[in-house]
Amino acid sequence: MNTLVKSGGAWMVSPSLAAAALRRIRVSGFATSSSSSSSPNWEGGVSLVQGASRGIGLEFVRQLLEKNEKGYVVATCRNPKDATSLSDLKNRFSERLVIQKLDVTDEATIEESAESVKDRYGSLNLLVNAAGILSIPGVLQPETTLYKVEKSSLMLAYEVNAVGPMLMMKHMWPLLKAGGGSGTEREVAVVANLSARVGSIGDNRLGGWHSYRASKTALNQLTKNVSVELGRRKDPVVCILLHPGTVDTDLSRPFQKNVPEGKLFTREYSVQKLLHIINNAKKQDNGKFFAWDGQEIPW
Ligand SMILES: NC(=O)c1ccc[n+]([C@@H]2O[C@H](COP(=O)([O-])OP(=O)(O)OC[C@H]3O[C@@H](n4cnc5c(N)ncnc54)[C@H](OP(=O)(O)O)[C@@H]3O)[C@@H](O)[C@H]2O)c1
Repeated sequence: MNTLVKSGGAWMVSPSLAAAALRRIRVSGFATSSSSSSSPNWEGGVSLVQGASRGIGLEFVRQLLEKNEKGYVVATCRNPKDATSLSDLKNRFSERLVIQKLDVTDEATIEESAESVKDRYGSLNLLVNAAGILSIPGVLQPETTLYKVEKSSLMLAYEVNAVGPMLMMKHMWPLLKAGGGSGTEREVAVVANLSARVGSIGDNRLGGWHSYRASKTALNQLTKNVSVELGRRKDPVVCILLHPGTVDTDLSRPFQKNVPEGKLFTREYSVQKLLHIINNAKKQDNGKFFAWDGQEIPW
């Protein structure tokens, strides 16, 4: 409980209240924060993009800010100081963009982010989980054969690509509320998890990439499971899985030479397509796995 306590004859704010206030200051980067009770009407909605330092996540932040001039965006990333493109956006949209430090492998940072969003805005209309790993030099290699499989790679891909978004949903769902589509009122709150077509079991004809594929398959099942639970709420949340196509980012760069002509999308194009799906999401889309063009992908 946040109460006044007596210490050495003087009344003081309880340690928990002081800690919460300090946390607000640290996370938001401002010395004041709007409480939910006194918050203005966040007319254009509040979106949170997790994994926003670069690639598709960064592009989501840019388009959400540019296309909805009344929208607010919380962008999270592991190392805000190194996220220079995100800082550039902060300079352009200082009033409507908040940057928070969040590592999906550290649940405390997720909890802290959720508390900060609650204090500042009271609710959230869109959650985009974009962070994902496919290869990390010397640490994680997409396996081309079974004998290259390492337990550490399987676990790491699962931790970032599947457990991470699950923990995000766990801590953010109480905040999710309908509203705030691109300039219009979306009918439902949306959770959009960036999956990949290679996570489809039905579509798996090539094999390989065991860690990445299986982690995305796990993400699909976890998201589907959550969609059933959240779909029962009075104010339903629509949880969808999105395949962005093959997009020109750091993640795909080492594998781009095999991409057929015209099939390597720009980040701008892919996110434009994905935002179209998100902004038109309906209750009946809950628990579905969509490609960038709106086609459903088999499980
Ligand atoms: N690009 C494609 O062709 C493609 C195709 C299918 C699916 N996808 C999916 O789309 C999503 C975005 O991919 P992308 O191409 O934009 O990748 P990217 O350019 O490599 O960016 C990956 C992002 O994930 C973040 N990240 C990695 N580990 C993290 C952690 N532990 N905690 C928080 N953030 C972490 C990175 O942050 P740092 O800067 O801190 O490393 C970076 O912001 C991924 O889920 C990917 O699987 C991409």
